[in-house]
Amino acid sequence: MTDARTARVAVLFVLAAHAPPARAAETSRGRLLYASNCVSCHGPTGQGDGPLAAGLRPPPRNFAKGEFAFDTDKDGRAGTDADLTNVIRQGAAAYGGSPLMAPWGQLGDDDVHALVAYIRRLAHHGGPAGGGRAAKRGK
Ligand code: HEC
Repeated sequence: MTDARTARVAVLFVLAAHAPPARAAETSRGRLLYASNCVSCHGPTGQGDGPLAAGLRPPPRNFAKGEFAFDTDKDGRAGTDADLTNVIRQGAAAYGGSPLMAPWGQLGDDDVHALVAYIRRLAHHGGPAGGGRAAKRGK
């Protein structure tokens, strides 16, 4: 193998070794946080069917649909990353929603970011990047 070829292989190896694990780390962090804090209501696949969900009105949001209700920053679009971040941090009641979606102020920026990314992954047919369709709150 020539030196140039060795170098190219080395570069590819470095790219392959580093790029995906960064994302994988965020995904597993999001999955872990979701499993310990959110799954009881939002359900294992995000369909709003966790063990505590029965009887909740409005029901926990079904993340599999990728539809969201709150436009927290009033930019005309509900369910942007900023909106999900705000609801997770401040709770839904801060935006006129259910107090059962409690504020998670103890979570750090990285944790909330990982959760938002994980919620996006749960959407089977996610909406346009950074936005979502309007959710029916099913009162
Ligand atoms: C005790 C049950 C419960 C738990 C636990 C819970 N949620 Fe919720 N969540 C709800 C309910 C109920 C709603 C619907 C609120 C409404 O429509 O007023 C909701 C709505 C949401 C929404 C929808 C916001 C929108 O604009 O539509 C997001 C995002 C969300 N929850 C994220 C989370 C995350 C992340 C966690 C874990 C850190 C979590 N929830 C834990 C009950 C829960």
